[in-house]
Amino acid sequence: MTEQFDVIVVGAGAAGMMSAIEAGKRGRKVLLVDHAKKIGEKIRISGGGRCNFTNIHTHPSKFISNNPKFVISALKQYTQNNFIDLIKKHNIKFHEKKLGQLFCDESAQQIIDMLLLECEMAKVVLKKDTTIDDIDKQDDNYFIVVGSDKYFSQSLIIATGGLSIPKIGASKFGYDIAQKFGLKVIETLPALVPLTFSEKILAICKELTGLSVEAVVSFKKTFFEEGMLFTHRGLSGPSILQISSYWKLGDNIKVNLSPKLDVDKFLNDRKISSPKQDIGIIVSEILPKRLAHIICNENNVNGNICELSNKVLTSLSNSINAWVINPIGTEGYRTAEVTLGGIDTEEISSKTMMSNKHPGLFFIGEVVDVTGHLGGYNFQWAWSSGYVAGQYA
Ligand code: FDA
Repeated sequence: MTEQFDVIVVGAGAAGMMSAIEAGKRGRKVLLVDHAKKIGEKIRISGGGRCNFTNIHTHPSKFISNNPKFVISALKQYTQNNFIDLIKKHNIKFHEKKLGQLFCDESAQQIIDMLLLECEMAKVVLKKDTTIDDIDKQDDNYFIVVGSDKYFSQSLIIATGGLSIPKIGASKFGYDIAQKFGLKVIETLPALVPLTFSEKILAICKELTGLSVEAVVSFKKTFFEEGMLFTHRGLSGPSILQISSYWKLGDNIKVNLSPKLDVDKFLNDRKISSPKQDIGIIVSEILPKRLAHIICNENNVNGNICELSNKVLTSLSNSINAWVINPIGTEGYRTAEVTLGGIDTEEISSKTMMSNKHPGLFFIGEVVDVTGHLGGYNFQWAWSSGYVAGQYA
């Protein structure tokens, strides 16, 4: 069987559904294809099941790309407020958790249901559980091959996402298609991902598993002040996930475990005001007890503070205000929220998301070399880039 469409969208995730809806609303005959049995799985598991669907502080500075200006046009054409309006139109209740992050009050499933309903209203033909055997171009038409069937279209939108969480359908399909059409792909890496450590630091992490502290985690000039979590595999929590998108293998990261306090000054003041106080008790005033205990042990300090030299106190305070550690890797795509790198933005128009070399071929969402910070920015990129492609496909 063969069938002609105006637009074929491959990948019915956040970006793909948005582009299909928008193209459908323009009266285009749209086919939306996904190999997954269940649509929108990443949306469903996002934000702890409540989907952090956007961030009210969305701004180009919250995105990482070889070309940091690439996102400006799409984010302007479809803003966080446009998506909030859509959510309101569907009576989905939401709240700001922190730092401008908007979550559903009830469930991420509401976002999936909303997108599926919008697809239906825009007369999008949805084929799930469908394996695409080949994609190619014939004259001015693109086509996909599904078993013995062939579907043709003027426009083809690739929205197959990144490599994170392969067990719910992530694949390298989008990158392969880009390469097939001669488009450059920037090396991909897991991002927004927990960091792993060699024995000495790992032993500390294991001992402190489950403990969460507010910390400033920095890599070179980039830093994030958010929660940090010790786990039996290493370090996690928002500040670590954020810095993982910047950290490079072989380099150190710096952790300030008590960002609000100049610990060196604090300890020196204490040495004068309470010379007979135990150092362990003093440190546990600024850090959780278990962490204070380990830090004192690691620094070989105990006894009354007056017995410790200023040099020892400075070294102790450095391990609290500026703990320098060397990750040996990440937990990889198995747990990464997103993928760094992807289709080189030089290959795509930032205004339309269409390939510069191949008119009618679009790339949107996470498959493109655009990665948002943690906090709803990645979905906003999916909505914005999806909207834009939907206007031009
Ligand atoms: P997405 O991955 O959503 O969709 C791609 C689709 O393509 C999938 O449906 C897949 O099945 C399909 N596909 C892949 N290969 C195919 C093939 N060969 N043939 C056919 N179909 C194929 N972001 C955020 O802003 N807020 C949040 O709260 C979270 N939370 C979060 C939690 C977890 C656990 C993860 C893993 C990720 C997040 N994210 C997030 C990131 C966010 O989920 C992600 O950036 C977007 O889903 C990307 O949208 P896309 O549509 O580009 O890809």
